[in-house]
Amino acid sequence: MIKSISERDADVLWHPYTQMKIAPLSIAIEKAEGAYLFDENGKKYIDAISSWWVNMHGHAHPEIANAISEQAHKLEQVIFAGFTHQPAVELAERLLPLLPKNQKKIFLSDNGSTAVEAALKMCIQFFANQGMQKTKIIAFKESYHGDTFGSMSVSARDVFTKPFRPLLFDVVFIDTPTASNANKVVAQFQKAVDEFKDEICAFIFEPLVLGSGGMLMYGAEVLNQLMSLAKQHQIFCIADEVMTGFGRTGKFFASEYLNIEPDIICLSKGITGGFLPLGATTTTKEIYDAFYSSDKYKMLFHGHSYTGNPLACAAAVASLNIWEKENTLEKIKQIELLNKNFVEKISKHPKVKNARFKGTIMALEINSDKGDYLSPIKEKVVPFYIENGVLLRPLGNTVYTLPPYCISEKDLNYIFEIIEQSLDFV
Ligand SMILES: Cc1ncc(COP(=O)(O)O)c(C=O)c1O
Repeated sequence: MIKSISERDADVLWHPYTQMKIAPLSIAIEKAEGAYLFDENGKKYIDAISSWWVNMHGHAHPEIANAISEQAHKLEQVIFAGFTHQPAVELAERLLPLLPKNQKKIFLSDNGSTAVEAALKMCIQFFANQGMQKTKIIAFKESYHGDTFGSMSVSARDVFTKPFRPLLFDVVFIDTPTASNANKVVAQFQKAVDEFKDEICAFIFEPLVLGSGGMLMYGAEVLNQLMSLAKQHQIFCIADEVMTGFGRTGKFFASEYLNIEPDIICLSKGITGGFLPLGATTTTKEIYDAFYSSDKYKMLFHGHSYTGNPLACAAAVASLNIWEKENTLEKIKQIELLNKNFVEKISKHPKVKNARFKGTIMALEINSDKGDYLSPIKEKVVPFYIENGVLLRPLGNTVYTLPPYCISEKDLNYIFEIIEQSLDFV
C-alpha cells in the first residue's frame, strides 16, 4: 500500500517539541497562500499563529518568492567573513533607520537563538576586551530566549530546560512583571545590583510580551525603570525582539514603547517575512567600538556558516518593501481592534482567565491561571481546532493568536468563534 507523506514522515523524521509516540501523525502541508495552509488532501487551515510566529504578510507571498528566486539565480551563498553582498548591505541600510536611533551596527546570524547568543557574547566580551570579567546576566523568571545553551541559560528554569539544568550557567532571575508587582521587581533588580556589583554585564528581556513563557504581558513603565537602573550601573540592556519585532505588538518594534533605548536588539522570525531563517543582533557604536581594534584578540569570536545568507537577506528586503506597499501598519491596527473586541467579550466567559491583547497578539487562559506547558488542555482543544481548520498551538492552557497581517476580519473572527466553542468541552 502506498504510504501518505504523514506516514512516511513518521518512519524517518523526529519533530521539535513533540512526543513522537503519542502525538498524532504530522499533517502534511502541500501548499500555502495568504493566511491559509492546504494539506495533502486539500483541507484548508487558517494559520492563526503565523507558523511559530514567523509569517508576516501571508504565506508564499509572490514578491518575496520572486526576490528569493532572482537572488538564487545570482548568488545563493558566500562566506560572510572577508566577503559581503548587496542584499546584506541593503538590509542593514534599510533596517537601521527603523531601529532606535542608538543602534548603529548589525551582526547577522541564522536564527533567534543565535541572535541571542551573539548578544550575550557581545556583552561578555565587551568587558573582557577591557581586561574585566563581568559575566553575570539578569533575566526574567519566565523568559524564553532560545534552545542553545547560552540562550537556554538565560531562559526560565522550567520544563523546557529541566534536563539540561546542571549545564546551564548561573543567571540572576527576577520576577516577571505583572500589573501589580512593579515595586517588587525593581527592588529585586536593585538587590541583584547591590549583591553582584561589578559582575553583571547584561539584562536580557522580551519587551512587553514574554512569548513562550505564556504570552505574559506587562507595561512599559516597569521596564523603563529597570532599564534606567541598568544604565546607571553600566549593565547592557538586551531587548530580545525575536518574537515582538516587526509589528507584533502594534508598533514596528516593541522597543518603541520604551523611553530608554536598548543597547542590543535581537531579531529573527518575522525578519524575512517568514520565508527563510535569519538572525540579526543590532548594537550601539559604544559596544562595536570595544571590539574595533588592531588587536586581533579583540574581534568578536562568533560566526555561523550561513551568516548573512543572501537569499534570506533578499527575502528580508522584499518583506520591508511589502511593509510600505501594503500599508501593513493599518492592517495591524485592524487586527488590534478585533483583538480588543474579542477580549472584551470573552473576558466574561466563566472558563476564561486573564484574556488580554497587545497589538496583534491575543491570549487567554482556559479554566485556571497559567498552568504547565504540558497541561492536558492542549490535547483536548487542538484536535477540535484542527478539525475546524484552524492552526492553533496553545502554550499549556494558554490559548493565543498571532496571525499573519493579511488575515481577513472574517477569518480572525472565525478563529475567535472556534476558540469560544472549544471552551464548551474543557
Ligand atoms: C523571544 C524569543 N527569543 C528567541 C527565540 C529563539 O528563536 P529560534 O527558535 O529561531 O532559535 C524565540 C523563539 O521562539 C523567542 O520567542
